[in-house]
Amino acid sequence: SVNDRVTDLMSRMTLEDKVHQMCQYVGLEHMKAAESEISPEELEKNDALGFYPGMRPEDIARLTTEGKIGSFLHVVTPEEANYLQSLALKSPLKIPLLIGIDAIHGNGLVNGSTIYPSPISQAATFDDALIKEGSAQTAQEMRANGMHWTFAPNIDVLRDPRWGRTGETFGEDPYLVGNMGVAAITGLQSKDLSGPDHVVACAKHLIAGSSSVNGLNAAPTDVSKRTIFEIFLPPYRRAVQEANVFSIMTAHNEVAGMPGHMDEFMMTDLMRDRWGFKGFYVSDWNDISRIALWHHVAKDFKQAIEFSVNAGMDMNMHGPVFDKLLIELVKEGKVDESRVNDACSKILEAKFRLGLFENPYVDVKKANEVNFSKAHQETALAQAREAITLLKNNDILPLQGGKKSIFVTGPNANNETIMGDWVYQQPAENVTTVYQGLKALGEQKGYNVSYFNAGDRSKKMKDADIDKAAQLAKKADITILVLGENSFRYDWPNKTTGENIDRATLRLSGKQMDLANKVLANGKPVIVVYVSGSPIAEPSLEERAKAVVYAYEPGSFGGQAVAEAIFGDLNPSGKLPLTIPRSVGQLQMVYNHKPTAYIHKYNTEKKVPLHPFGFGLSYTEFKLSEPKLSKAKFVGKDDTINVSVDVTNTGKMDGTEVVQLYIRDDVSSYTRPVKELKGYKRVAVKAGETKTVTIPISAESLAFYDKDFNFVVEPGTFTIMTGSSSADKDLMKTTISVDNEIILDKNK
Ligand code: IFM
Repeated sequence: SVNDRVTDLMSRMTLEDKVHQMCQYVGLEHMKAAESEISPEELEKNDALGFYPGMRPEDIARLTTEGKIGSFLHVVTPEEANYLQSLALKSPLKIPLLIGIDAIHGNGLVNGSTIYPSPISQAATFDDALIKEGSAQTAQEMRANGMHWTFAPNIDVLRDPRWGRTGETFGEDPYLVGNMGVAAITGLQSKDLSGPDHVVACAKHLIAGSSSVNGLNAAPTDVSKRTIFEIFLPPYRRAVQEANVFSIMTAHNEVAGMPGHMDEFMMTDLMRDRWGFKGFYVSDWNDISRIALWHHVAKDFKQAIEFSVNAGMDMNMHGPVFDKLLIELVKEGKVDESRVNDACSKILEAKFRLGLFENPYVDVKKANEVNFSKAHQETALAQAREAITLLKNNDILPLQGGKKSIFVTGPNANNETIMGDWVYQQPAENVTTVYQGLKALGEQKGYNVSYFNAGDRSKKMKDADIDKAAQLAKKADITILVLGENSFRYDWPNKTTGENIDRATLRLSGKQMDLANKVLANGKPVIVVYVSGSPIAEPSLEERAKAVVYAYEPGSFGGQAVAEAIFGDLNPSGKLPLTIPRSVGQLQMVYNHKPTAYIHKYNTEKKVPLHPFGFGLSYTEFKLSEPKLSKAKFVGKDDTINVSVDVTNTGKMDGTEVVQLYIRDDVSSYTRPVKELKGYKRVAVKAGETKTVTIPISAESLAFYDKDFNFVVEPGTFTIMTGSSSADKDLMKTTISVDNEIILDKNK
């Protein structure tokens, strides 16, 4: 068995060998490329990029041959993966390497991969099965390229959309994030990592970095233990208990004074001992050293390692010295050798389960066949189609009839911003920009579609080009303005959102509003398409536009999906996985807020959002019935109540509705949110047809944490709400009750 193989191998390993399995380094090509971006002087002086002065790619190659490296990250070609494995197999114990990469929505750091819509876009589909399918395909592409471990999914529950990593999340709702996380992990790992096409997934980042003060990446988070348990932890518990996630990455940030990388309660007491996590922890980039450098709760790197490994850390992401210091700490009795044994055995277990000892190399030719294969393209397109969310339609969409001129402009109209973060340059022929999609489909339907580049990046728009665009818009019958933010990683200098690029405002960046205002001043119809992983709060623009389409970051085929929606080949069915506030001043604004959040109103702002969570229009009309219950009393842990809703398509076009079920605990021992999503179902309904959907309520749907942090259902009544969005006006209600307390998980 795998366990026997691990035990056997470990019996032949020294303390040093075991510690070396805990060491991860960055790939050689990636290191060279990143280094080429900064001057040699800078590289010598500091570790601006987190690389170590004096540490050269040749040193890393030598360490690999000596068996002193257990894992790599960001190896971006199958040739390099094979080369590094060949070095590792020259080492005395011949242990293959575990190669990790940020394959966040497709294996985007690798040239020629399928780029699926970014996670926020995926969440807008409310289609777990489709997300699982894309993740399984990503795993296939990774394995074909020699990579075995992705630092995904990001199951941070979004609370503050100023955070630049908003597009990497599945949105603001713990249940939706949990479902998407479980789907992604199951697709990536399967049950037990067996088979040649699966990879280790990584739930990240433990915990609550999405709610840092001021929305800045890595800044402190200061929320209550109750909020941590009720909002941020549910997806992690489910990742461990339902999907058996085999790795977890800890967060840069502190929570209430405790840096994530040394949080023993979180890593060991809760995740491992209470909830049964069986995999291994990896640090974030250089974050163990930052326990000392940034957080100042350890006096130096050595003490930081002591605190982190004792808290449960199993692998250090990138860099030398960690091994030497950890070996010293064990010899000095400050870290028990059993901790090293635990860490090493988990890492070896992953390597055995993945079959790396049998098959360390990949066939480079096969990588070319698997990358961007037809089936993968279809899934990426299907996700983009299902994500597109129609926010406004004043009788203009879908465009029909041809014979009109359409003018397309805006910084995200004709470039790779549709691909989002963690994607490097991809072959141009693999990508359909929004303009390309509109031109191809529009001209097929008899429209005349033109484009002007009024500044290809929002940061670089010039007044003269804006004026020219406005003049061209005046001559056209309809203008499509493609606006939004840019998180495309390859375009680092022009990014306006993404990792370490947080937003102080939710308004459009650069001179985009100047462009919009001038085009709108023509008085001709304007359709706004937002391409952005982060929400855009521009109420006045939405008021004046005829239609607003939110495409998120729709991936390689984004342009095709947007065009299909504009011309009615696709009836939009996406729903917002996050609230879109009207202004930054409303933050933190979430639909599942506590009852007193809006007792008072702002003096200069409305207390309602621009668009609520779960909202999205269609080209047809749906009528949803009142919820019908299979019974009204919920009894015991394993009980289920089925809630059914009839969905009638009363319009003229076939369409898909996402029926949503929310629950409110009417009276509870601690305050509870006014509503919480606990179920949803996508249902395709033809014009004139009625379909019934059934959504189950389980004990977990009703539970929360009591005063001792047991997970319980308290007796009392619960309001059940069903409808087409989280807004009260879109929901219909009924009630169920529970007579006796139900305990689901006892705090040990
Ligand atoms: O996986 C990422 C993490 O999310 C942020 N810091 C760098 C890691 C590796 O690229």
